[in-house]
Amino acid sequence: MSYHPAPEYDVVGVGFGPSNLALAIALDDCARQQSLKCRSLFVERQQDFKWHGGMLLPGSSMQISFLKDLVSLRDPTSPFTFVNYLHKSGRLLDFTNCKTFYPSRIEFNDYLRWVAGQFSAMVAYGETVEAVEPVHAGQSVTALRVLTRMADGKERSRVTRHLVAAVGGVPHIPSVFRAVAMDPRVVHTSGYLGSTLAAGSDGRSPRVAVIGGGQSAAEVTLDLSERIPGAQIDLVFRGHALKPADSSPFVNEIFNPDYTDYFHSRSDGQRETIVRSFRNTNYAVVDPDLLDQLYRMTYQQRVAGARKLALHPRSEIVAAHASPEGVVLEFNNKDEEVRRRAAYDAVVLATGYERSPIPGCLDPISRYIESASLDRDYRLQTSPAFRPHVYVQGCAETSHGLSDTLLSVLPMRAQEITKSLVSTTAREQDAASSHDRAERVYS
Ligand SMILES: Cc1cc2nc3c(=O)[nH]c(=O)nc-3n(C[C@H](O)[C@H](O)[C@H](O)COP(=O)(O)OP(=O)(O)OC[C@H]3O[C@@H](n4cnc5c(N)ncnc54)[C@H](O)[C@@H]3O)c2cc1C
Ligand SMILES: NC(=O)c1ccc[n+]([C@@H]2O[C@H](COP(=O)([O-])OP(=O)(O)OC[C@H]3O[C@@H](n4cnc5c(N)ncnc54)[C@H](OP(=O)(O)O)[C@@H]3O)[C@@H](O)[C@H]2O)c1
Repeated sequence: MSYHPAPEYDVVGVGFGPSNLALAIALDDCARQQSLKCRSLFVERQQDFKWHGGMLLPGSSMQISFLKDLVSLRDPTSPFTFVNYLHKSGRLLDFTNCKTFYPSRIEFNDYLRWVAGQFSAMVAYGETVEAVEPVHAGQSVTALRVLTRMADGKERSRVTRHLVAAVGGVPHIPSVFRAVAMDPRVVHTSGYLGSTLAAGSDGRSPRVAVIGGGQSAAEVTLDLSERIPGAQIDLVFRGHALKPADSSPFVNEIFNPDYTDYFHSRSDGQRETIVRSFRNTNYAVVDPDLLDQLYRMTYQQRVAGARKLALHPRSEIVAAHASPEGVVLEFNNKDEEVRRRAAYDAVVLATGYERSPIPGCLDPISRYIESASLDRDYRLQTSPAFRPHVYVQGCAETSHGLSDTLLSVLPMRAQEITKSLVSTTAREQDAASSHDRAERVYS
């Protein structure tokens, strides 16, 4: 006879970034308001809370209003708002004097950490979820076994009724860079601050290539120019020019939570068209103020006759290899068909992120998943014999719109998932207590 362990948790969250942090708040609200407690645990591979730590650059600021924090749009009276964080930190008035909706990313990370600290009892830090396996009872799958690995290599297993995966993106390394990706002189922006490059250069003037034309590329370029004033920087990108992010007010309405309803109800083709036509709100675009700053910097370098930053638009990297004198890149200028070759002391890949619609750790339950597309309430569509609910946050741009990878809809999405989870947990808890009552009567 096989052993069926009882679920220890009603829900396990994979990852504890902003998405699952917003969920922790929504579950906590629900426990207070409806006295229905979901036994929950979040598993996070980092040793403590950090929001894109490799890019917490001194000069970078948020690309979204602080009012779109973890909870305000759903409940501005919550104790977990950014405004309450400022109040508790004694900076509310001083922040007001800054006259901005866009705090620094360092401060927003501190806000997120402050919230995360209040949920630390329900987070297992330093554990990576490697696999989520089915737990069978007869023909049905009734629960999930979550297998994790700790930094010291030890494994752990936990059983849960339901699961919410919010694992974010993984660095996109274009195939042309695969051969040099492990070279210590090559770094993706996600690891920029932890790299030797960001540590400085002992007074040398390194040659650095930054690849890409998005926000990360622009921020790293500016940071490098300030951090290593002598650095010779080549910013290499495929587009014709660095382009501004469209954050104008009418366009910004596509990030409103109710736009998700509209988007989700469209056909696949219509959704694709919408994402394509609004791509310039988010991808391969740069905050307009930052563009001005970069332009002024290059102009001043020309005035001083000391050009340190060179832009290479319309340029495609066609080969990369490591050599003792540097990482050698070959790139084509698209118009002139000129092939350029240069050796660099360091290469920064600002080439963005990839998100898989179904995170890899769910592979062991893939045969129960009927579609890669999520239901409106972010639940994976699974076969009838599969009883656990599996929700995915942040990977559903094609079905739920461009806001899905961002902070814009976090509070509402967390509430929608909570509502769906809690109604099923309430039914399960009712069924369990009727079963207990029946056992008491008949024992
Ligand atoms: C540099 C940068 C700046 C950004 N700035 C903004 C902004 O200003 N405004 C905005 O709206 N969006 C911004 N974004 C977009 C970003 O996606 C969201 O802000 C936000 O981080 C999404 O939260 P998340 O929890 O879904 O994903 P993430 O923040 O990526 O969090 C996922 C978490 O899951 C953990 N994890 C992954 N796999 C596992 C596993 N197998 N086991 C355990 N843990 C795991 C990771 O360690 C991570 O902590 C930015 C993105 C970047 C890269
Ligand atoms: N301060 C902040 O709030 C902040 C800071 C950084 C990032 N972010 C956010 O993080 C997200 C990602 O931004 P990002 O700048 O990292 O990525 P991104 O916007 O996806 O830009 C990636 C860049 O890499 C280029 N690229 C991709 N594959 C390439 C290849 N094979 N060869 C050459 N170039 C290639 C793309 O060029 P093509 O267009 O030619 O494909 C694009 O210019 C966005 O949501 C952004 O707003 C926010």
